[in-house]
Formats: sequence, C-alpha cells, structure tokens
Amino acid sequence: MKIVIATRNSHKRAELKRLLTPLGEGVVSLEELDPRGEIPEVEETGTTLKENAFLKARAIFKATGLPAVSDDTGLEVEVLDGAPGVNSARYAGENCSYEDNINKLLQEMVFVPPYQRKASFRTVAAFVDDELELSAEGAVEGVITEKPEGFGGFGYDPVFSVENMKKSYAQLSDDEKNRISHRGKAVRNLVEKLRQNGKIAEPLSNI
Ligand code: IMP
Repeated sequence: MKIVIATRNSHKRAELKRLLTPLGEGVVSLEELDPRGEIPEVEETGTTLKENAFLKARAIFKATGLPAVSDDTGLEVEVLDGAPGVNSARYAGENCSYEDNINKLLQEMVFVPPYQRKASFRTVAAFVDDELELSAEGAVEGVITEKPEGFGGFGYDPVFSVENMKKSYAQLSDDEKNRISHRGKAVRNLVEKLRQNGKIAEPLSNI
C-alpha cells in the first residue's frame, strides 16, 4: 500500500519514515510527492492533539488522494498544568525556534526543584484513507532537565530526560529514541490497528 507521511517537519519525517519501514517501499514523504511545496501548510487549529493529527492526515489525504499518516505531539509539564501541551510548537510565540521554546520552558521552571519537574511527551498518530480513519496514542514519562543535555534529536529533546534512563532524548541514537519514544509507541499502536483492520498484512517488527 502506498502511504504518505503528512508532515513537512524533516526531523519528524525521518523518525516516521524509519518507524513505518516495515510497511514496505510504499511509504513516501510529502516532499517526494510535492517537492515544490504546492500543497498548502495545514493550520493546526484544533484544541487537542487528536484533532490536529486528524486535521493534518485528512488534508493531506484530500490533497494527494493517498492514505495519509500524521502525528501531533505535545510536551505536558506537570507543574505548568500540562503546558505547553497542544501549543508546544508555538510556546515562545509564532515562528519561534526550538531554542526559543527551550529557553522559555527553562525560564518558567527556573525555581522548580528536581522532584517537581515531571513531564510527559504524548503523541497521537492518525491514519486517513477513503474508507477508514484511525488514531493511536503513545506517551513517555520523564523530567525536564535544568539545562540542555545532548546534541541529537530536535525540539525539546535536549531538556526531556526519560524516566529510569537518566538520559535526555538528545543523548540517544535515532534507533534508541524510536524504540522507546512517544512517537515510536504511537506509531506501533497505529500499525497494530491498521493490521487489525486488514490494511496491512504484518505487525510492525521490533524497531
Ligand atoms: P507538532 O505540533 O506535532 O508538530 O509538534 C509540536 C512541537 O513539539 C514541535 O515543534 C517540537 O518543538 C515538539 N516536538 C514534537 N515531537 C518532538 C520530539 O519527538 N522531541 C522533542 N520535541 C518534539
């Protein structure tokens, strides 16, 4: 089955492409289908991760006519009542950088002691084609570090330390992150649902 990955975020695309490898050669990125960027950016106007994941998958299915897989992710910090959550991309304002978001988060938490720095990363992955809409979730618990640690990954990876690993996401290899991450869990759950609904033959192998 040909499936399009409904994101223009190059980091997410790389993770999703790797996670969807077992679905075969048919997994293509939006850049491959639309190298000149003619398909308009999908506005994330939903109030939940699930709404935004479906906004993206539906729009890209409609634009390409191909089954689409999207994800929407939020970092939920306990002491900030779940913020930045669904606003994780724009936490420090429109058009802000990953660094701006991290700086704002660390600033908000500057007086928060280590034992109160609990957070979770949550992803909703969605699939849309002409006969089926499915979504699945994945979450990982951790803490927000006091300063950035590690150089890999993207977004909030340098300040999210995974529970029981004592390493930030940015200190993991791409494969290690995919094995344990919120996105890895959500995509494996989605693929299992696709298999149960007869969309694919095999479960995701152990990435
Ligand atoms: P989106 O709305 O799903 O594109 O993601 C919102 C924001 O969350 C992104 O702009 C990133 O800053 C952050 N984000 C998403 N996924 C990850 C991840 O795997 N690690 C770190 N930050 C992430």
